[in-house]
Amino acid sequence: MNTIKKCLFPAAGYGTRFLPATKAIPKEMLPVLTKPLLQYGVEEAIEAGLNTMAIVTGRGKRAIEDHFDISYELEHQIKDTAKESYLTEIRKVITNCTFSYTRQIEMKGLGHAILTGETLIGEEPFAVILADDLCDNEGDGVLAQMVKLYNEYKCCIVAVEEIAKEESSKYGVIAGDFLNNSLVKVTDMVEKPDPKDAPSNIAIIGRYILTPEIFDVLRETKPGKGGEIQITDALLELAKDGKVLAYKFQGKRFDCGSVDGFVEATQYFYNKLS
Ligand code: G1P
Repeated sequence: MNTIKKCLFPAAGYGTRFLPATKAIPKEMLPVLTKPLLQYGVEEAIEAGLNTMAIVTGRGKRAIEDHFDISYELEHQIKDTAKESYLTEIRKVITNCTFSYTRQIEMKGLGHAILTGETLIGEEPFAVILADDLCDNEGDGVLAQMVKLYNEYKCCIVAVEEIAKEESSKYGVIAGDFLNNSLVKVTDMVEKPDPKDAPSNIAIIGRYILTPEIFDVLRETKPGKGGEIQITDALLELAKDGKVLAYKFQGKRFDCGSVDGFVEATQYFYNKLS
């Protein structure tokens, strides 16, 4: 199959770590400076050449659909004023891709959210961006780097970075054979292991390229860590057949699912302005 055109954004979670901010606002809509996290993700996908954004939402997430749409009243109010420029970036996003949505009715984990998105993806390879992992790079974005690799290897790819081993219980952790400095053929992966059980200090971050066979595997995947259906467990099945690569990406990644990471990202993007 040809290259990747669709990007799935699981965006159904409650964002409990950001309460009360996330009581009525989806966590994906929290802004770093003036731009919501999800818009950073969508821009990264567009930069990687993708043009179809598939968003798995849940209850209370309508602001996401409104954001990626025209607001006629607002457009009318600020037309021909200096403020119009504030909308330039989001207008560009809206004209450069299409958005489709489906709802995850029950929160049964990331694997379940991805399977819920099957209806929007169909039988083709696709990318997944977890918007609370905010990535930035001077050169190609992280997803663009991964799409290039996909075009060469045509298999599932997860983005990884080295972490302190004590942090392993926050991540999917992989092990495998290095093909070169930045590419690992995955032989093992464990969701959020205790540091003593972690197979390495190489952790998965929120960027994936998946082939459509993942959906069949997810349908058979039993609940794992935390009683949830984990994408890590489904990918391990494909890794057993040598079908998963882990890629040490170029660039920075901020864990905007945590307050510390969020503040760090804000500081970083603010410093970039000057
Ligand atoms: C998810 C995945 C985990 C991955 C992480 C990256 O966990 O389950 O394997 O390492 O994203 O951010 P979450 O952070 O949603 O709990």
